[in-house]
Amino acid sequence: MKTDSKTILVTGGTGYIGSHTVVELQSQGYKVIIIDNLSNSKPFIVDQITKISGVAPSFHNIDLNNADMVKDFVDDRPEISGVIHFAAFKSVGESVHSPLKYYRNNLNSLIHLLSAFSERKTNLVFSSSCTVYGQPDQLPVTEKAAIKKAESPYGNTKQIAEEILQEVIDARKNCKAISLRYFNPVGAHESALIGELPLGVPQNLVPYFTQSAIGKRGAITIYGDNYEIFDGTCIRDYIHVVDLAKAHVEAIKLLESQTSKNYDVFNIGTGKGTSVLEMINAFQKATGVTLKYTVGSKRSGDITQVWADITKSKNTLNWKAELDLHHMMYSAWQWEQYIHQNPLLQTL
Ligand code: WQD
Repeated sequence: MKTDSKTILVTGGTGYIGSHTVVELQSQGYKVIIIDNLSNSKPFIVDQITKISGVAPSFHNIDLNNADMVKDFVDDRPEISGVIHFAAFKSVGESVHSPLKYYRNNLNSLIHLLSAFSERKTNLVFSSSCTVYGQPDQLPVTEKAAIKKAESPYGNTKQIAEEILQEVIDARKNCKAISLRYFNPVGAHESALIGELPLGVPQNLVPYFTQSAIGKRGAITIYGDNYEIFDGTCIRDYIHVVDLAKAHVEAIKLLESQTSKNYDVFNIGTGKGTSVLEMINAFQKATGVTLKYTVGSKRSGDITQVWADITKSKNTLNWKAELDLHHMMYSAWQWEQYIHQNPLLQTL
């Protein structure tokens, strides 16, 4: 079938990575159905996606924790040929304080979704994370690296979810799945109509940069500058969210092809590591805005350094990141200014 006759279900499709992925799917001719319970996103994002791509995805406020509702919804839509599953809680810090909330939501959502498709040949792309590696023994980290004890309940839900997925796919034999292990998603769509919308104080680095730069927050706190790193600050593999979104379309295409394995895993990063201080300099260079920062104590759960080996993604997924740090920072800043100029949007 041509992509314009294929329908993809995107759970969590009004979220940060989900919304960017819906835009990329629609630009490639896929029909998209979004289900989202809006626990960490806003409904106006559906209109923004429509403005960008000229196509209105079908949106349904569905909570994956309601197994019967999910089953009925899926049974009524035999046209769904693939699923991309984003819907999950994702704050490392919050998961430490509320582990049960994370195990219940993140695992029940996946289990109910898999159960709803148990009689179907529907393929699935799962939103996993580099947090499954913990602090790797070797860098860059490959997909074959040892999975270490998770540093947080959030990371553990990703590890357990990958195991559940692999065992269900092996048992079913009538469908296939791919787990994408994201590194650090940053930036926004070039239109500045969608981007990261942290609820409350941003936990992640770049949204804190942009909110500090626009005056919504005070100085940035660098969580430790005495790591055994050239400049003392942690290294991560930051990847533009649009590159990350495109990786999901390639994963759907790979599953549609005859060449994919029943279950496979791919690192989705740039293959380059950047320190916190280098990120501050990159933001200042891209935006012309000077960031104020102080140095605080290390944050519990932080690993020192990680970046991806992307050989497998390049060779098998036929994907690699194209956008650089300048695009990541500039687009994040454009989005922050757009949201600041349109405060009512978040009330919609
Ligand atoms: C990055 C670096 C902090 C904030 C994230 C997601 C996780 C996963 C991987 C998807 C660290 C430092 C941060 C601040 C700081 N993604 N920092 N001051 O912790 O690598 O994990 O990406 O699954 O879900 O949470 O990202 O942006 O929080 O931190 O110094 O105010 O920036 O110590 O070294 P992290 P982050």
